[in-house]
Amino acid sequence: MGTNFINLIYLVAAVCFIFGLKGLTSPRTAPRGNLLGASGMLLAVLATLLDQHILTFQLIILGLVVGAAIGAYLAITVQMTAMPQMVAAFNGFGGGASALVAATALIAPGDLTNVPPIQLYVASTASGIIGAATFTGSMIAWAKLQGVLRWQPTSDVLQKASNTSLFLAALALAAYIVNNPAAIWAYWVLVAVASVLGVMLTVPIGGADMPVVIALLNSYSGLAAAATGFVLGNNVLIIAGSLVGASGLILTNIMCKAMNRSLSHVLFGTLGPTAETASADEVYEGKVKSASAEEAAMIFETARLVIIVPGYGMAVAQAQHTVRDLANLLQERGAEVQYAIHPVAGRMPGHMNVLLAEADVPYDQLFALEQINDSFPEADIALVIGANDVVNPSAREDTSSPIYGMPILDVDKAQTVMIIKRSLSPGFAGIPNPLFAAPNALMLYGDGKEMVRELIAALREQ
Ligand code: TAP
Repeated sequence: MGTNFINLIYLVAAVCFIFGLKGLTSPRTAPRGNLLGASGMLLAVLATLLDQHILTFQLIILGLVVGAAIGAYLAITVQMTAMPQMVAAFNGFGGGASALVAATALIAPGDLTNVPPIQLYVASTASGIIGAATFTGSMIAWAKLQGVLRWQPTSDVLQKASNTSLFLAALALAAYIVNNPAAIWAYWVLVAVASVLGVMLTVPIGGADMPVVIALLNSYSGLAAAATGFVLGNNVLIIAGSLVGASGLILTNIMCKAMNRSLSHVLFGTLGPTAETASADEVYEGKVKSASAEEAAMIFETARLVIIVPGYGMAVAQAQHTVRDLANLLQERGAEVQYAIHPVAGRMPGHMNVLLAEADVPYDQLFALEQINDSFPEADIALVIGANDVVNPSAREDTSSPIYGMPILDVDKAQTVMIIKRSLSPGFAGIPNPLFAAPNALMLYGDGKEMVRELIAALREQ
């Protein structure tokens, strides 16, 4: 098949990827965007299969069957709360695959690629460094989030110095390979050095900061794929890899902004209470009011506008279906229900959107922070379910707070705020929340799902 024709198909596939990504920017158009992106990938794969004759189709079909079986098993069995580590593992495999393809191209260039030698050598070493570091970094991220690895050395000066040495060693090896491409052993040493670098870069980062790092590793896996595109002279791989690289970087930036933290703070710092942070006793002593589900139900009776604010605890409790049932019940009784979604509520980008979509909550009831914050003063009830940091007014008012400057949902401005959580324990940032002691706040202590169930039962009994 002619190269021009193949490149034309690749161009169509690339356009599908770009419009697919555009579709993913809104929940309403996301399924279409996903389908468009997948169709583009199908086109690209078919064109590549028709163009290349290196592998036998039996081998390709075997790979497809094994891959599809593992993918289907994971998709069916993985818990929503375990999604970040699954994404981490997938990024890692992408990086690892890039490094291996680059190795194959170096070992048997004539069979795999016909790009100019200098392009092959430079791109292969780039793919090897980025791909191997992405693989091991992602595996560490997976192990931390899965709770398999708890070790966390502090990122001291010594560690930063050794990371720099490893990076320089990898670059020196890359230069050696470009000048001595027959020295395949040097490529494997480069992969080993980059693998250690991936571990060293990821291991000091706190488990809860991992989602940001995963977005960054996702970006790296895209860059590794783009480098492999240069190795193979495959335009669609270059475009798709660059799109992944750029979107991963944008996502990393969005997450850092939504937490009001710099990337270097995420990578080299820690988030937590400082000496100036007020203690829980100072914030809560004698000021926190709690209520039972029955008492809360009485307040709901006259509510016209209820804004539900889900957080990490809703994901832990897997309360999304029960929350939707509560919203339906309130709507049947004539109240308007809206959901306020903070960009970093939960532990991964889009965490709350995914959970609520799973429970068939209509998209037009979901509002982003900037869309809904002005509505809180008009809300009769803000019902906070397992959210903490993203509704902490210290971020707005207390300049000494570690989360000062983080945009928050202004739930404290609603007439009544009800907070469902099991205790007064802090959230991810580890700091007390003055919201719980506010005059208009009521704590509904209990597991997210159980308490919403009790609320539904109490409302039905009225
Ligand atoms: P958090 O501030 O982490 O608070 C979650 C609260 O849920 C906890 O205080 C906990 O209190 C409660 N909870 C846990 N299990 C529960 C259950 N079964 N039922 C009811 N409540 C339960 O959550 P958030 O408000 O969603 O904020 C997210 C935090 O994660 C932010 O600080 C954000 O910066 C950080 N973060 C987010 C991301 C992304 S991309 N989303 C990435 C990295 C970091 P109890 O123990 O008292 O129940």
